[in-house]
Amino acid sequence: MNLDFSQIVPYIPYMLKGIWVTLKFVMMAICIGFVLGTILSLFKITKIKILKVIADVYTSIFRGTPLILQLMLFYFAVPQLSGYDISPFLSAIMAFGLNSAAYVSEIIRAGIMAVDRGQTEAAQALGVPYRQMMVNIILPQALKNILPALMNEFITLTKESAIVSVIGYVDLMRRAQIVGADIYRNFEPLLFAGLIYWIMVFILTKIGKMVERRLHYSD
Ligand code: ARG
Repeated sequence: MNLDFSQIVPYIPYMLKGIWVTLKFVMMAICIGFVLGTILSLFKITKIKILKVIADVYTSIFRGTPLILQLMLFYFAVPQLSGYDISPFLSAIMAFGLNSAAYVSEIIRAGIMAVDRGQTEAAQALGVPYRQMMVNIILPQALKNILPALMNEFITLTKESAIVSVIGYVDLMRRAQIVGADIYRNFEPLLFAGLIYWIMVFILTKIGKMVERRLHYSD
């Protein structure tokens, strides 16, 4: 075994820069996924048939095809249709955000359904309008229950982000490959990238636990 980490030392700043490159689009994708996912989950529980169908078809498509394919569609196919180039950054945000929305909508739908029916009945009996009931009564309770599942989704997105190297986005993963090609050694840069991904997920997990504790505290 001839591991030699000294060779990657000059490349460490270059690889560390990849953390922000990765986080930048993952955070934006998480926001898009969460907002769109929440809207879709409300579509799924409404009595209006057409909205339900739209949300179901959406989920079926984005969950039923590989994320890497969606990513490549945005990057290579959208320009063909529209005539406009789309940057790897924007393609990544779109593909990850829209993909995540499909998963998040199911997570939130499950959370809403798990809230005791009595809550809805009590709100209706008191004459609370639908919007207010959802925003102030049902969704806050649902969110608390689904926090672990949401954290799972955010962790998945963080790690799946590594596939953006296929569209030439120079993220952490791609940087590890570039360094490997430069020094003719792949094990060390890949291991280093792995460590960074692990630390990112570790921090995300800690934040999730913290939020969870805070929410329980307010009980
Ligand atoms: N590798 C899976 C795929 O290509 C990951 C999908 C993303 N998962 C998620 N929870 N957003 O479909």
